[in-house]
Amino acid sequence: MVLLDALRAIVGDGFVKQGDGIPQRNWSDATEIPPLCPAALVLPGSTEEISKVLAACSAAGQTIVVQGGLTGLAGGARPQPGEIALSLERMQGIEEIDVASRTMTVRAGTPLYQVQDAAKEAGLHYGVDLGARGTCTIGGNVATNAGGVQALRYGVTRRNVLGIEAVLSDGTVLNGLNKLMKNNTGYDWPQMMIGSEGTLGVITRVCLSLSPAPPALQTALCAAASVADAAKALAELDRQFPGQLMTFEGMWREYMEVTDTYTSLPEPFDPRTELTLLIEAALGDDQAAQDRFTEVLASLLEEGLISDALVSQSLQDRQHFWAYREANYEFDRLIPGSAQFDISLPMNRMDDAIAEMRRQIASLAPGATMIAYGHMADSNLHLAILPADAADDLGAAVTAVYDVVGQSDGSISAEHGIGILKRPYLSRSRSPEELALMRRLKNMLDPADILNRGRILLSQQP
Ligand code: FAD
Ligand code: LAC
Ligand code: ZN
Repeated sequence: MVLLDALRAIVGDGFVKQGDGIPQRNWSDATEIPPLCPAALVLPGSTEEISKVLAACSAAGQTIVVQGGLTGLAGGARPQPGEIALSLERMQGIEEIDVASRTMTVRAGTPLYQVQDAAKEAGLHYGVDLGARGTCTIGGNVATNAGGVQALRYGVTRRNVLGIEAVLSDGTVLNGLNKLMKNNTGYDWPQMMIGSEGTLGVITRVCLSLSPAPPALQTALCAAASVADAAKALAELDRQFPGQLMTFEGMWREYMEVTDTYTSLPEPFDPRTELTLLIEAALGDDQAAQDRFTEVLASLLEEGLISDALVSQSLQDRQHFWAYREANYEFDRLIPGSAQFDISLPMNRMDDAIAEMRRQIASLAPGATMIAYGHMADSNLHLAILPADAADDLGAAVTAVYDVVGQSDGSISAEHGIGILKRPYLSRSRSPEELALMRRLKNMLDPADILNRGRILLSQQP
């Protein structure tokens, strides 16, 4: 194939792989979509090589799927038939940490944990954290505008990015590696790349904004009877610990029951509670900090906003509490055939929405279980409908859940993005005018429609 010879000439013979030479990991992302071997795997080592690869593919009309750490949950990085996979695997490394301006310039293929560790070593903190930290890349985080478990304190990825270098589908290199907090010099195009899921350009380097290192964390697992109570508890914690609350995650009762059944984690509260909360505050780890944390939780108990609380006394306790929240990572493997959601719901409508979803699922998919958990303080819930049998048709239940999301003024994707999986539902969260604008942008930046074709939307109206 002439194109593959051209790509070999650009990146080097060993960095274009075909057939059996393509590792299985490049066949899929972290979704349950059946894996598919890409037409070829290209591993460029520099921005210049990526530019040349894209120019060659554009000229040939060859479609490309961009791959970071392949932990995505929307099917975006999983190859579609005939696509060449362009992996950022060789584009790793931290180029600069500027302590004075609190920035880090990093190549897009660098795993998140390396950025977190390097920031810590420099006495600083990178404010985005998620369970996939060991594998996901900064480029993937930026492309999906990842949220995670500290968005309450630091915001989502968008708030932690100052600049981007990206390559357009025709090979044009855009250097927007801005390090300045203030820079109003026309259209802020890097913002448009954040959350574009690889459809508008390949992100090659990123300038991240770092924060001062927070004090050590106090951690608690609490029981609450409703979102309404939990929201009041959150407001009170925010008042008592302004700017220090890092994490406020929620796990509903069915989630805890399933965790109890499928893992070695017994339910922590007796009697069973509607909502289990995982709360962390950056208060320091001395006795005074722990006393203060315990005191405020005791006042929440007195007010009846929570009904029980376990306060971590050690690193082991903290890991044990987090194990409940991270139990979901294993559910896909343990309970195949589930339908997954990543939704936003306004906090004051969450109790009613969940009750309505439970009702709908009980009638449309008898025997199925809906589990709910997620980043409660960000109004971001992950739901899964677990079928009684892997072969059960959950179609009507899925539509019912999205209907409730729409009726509650929620969003069909809070943090994982649209990818392939949620494309059929995008019009529930975006107006026809917004979708038309997205199509115009896509057609303008990628006229040959070679980059992540069909992710988020179809470039032509169906
Ligand atoms: P990939 O999966 O490789 O790609 C994701 C998308 O971005 C694809 O469309 C791909 O084409 C595109 N892309 C990747 N790199 C680039 C690039 N350099 N330029 C342009 N496009 C690119 N997500 C959250 O938001 N919050 C969470 O709390 C969270 N927790 C998770 C926990 C687990 C255990 C797992 C498996 C996933 C979790 N995720 C979470 C989802 C996922 O980790 C994030 O979406 C992550 O940002 C994806 O990064 P990645 O490098 O793995 O990207
Ligand atoms: C989480 C992933 C699924 O928060 O986003 O666990
Ligand atoms: Zn999440």
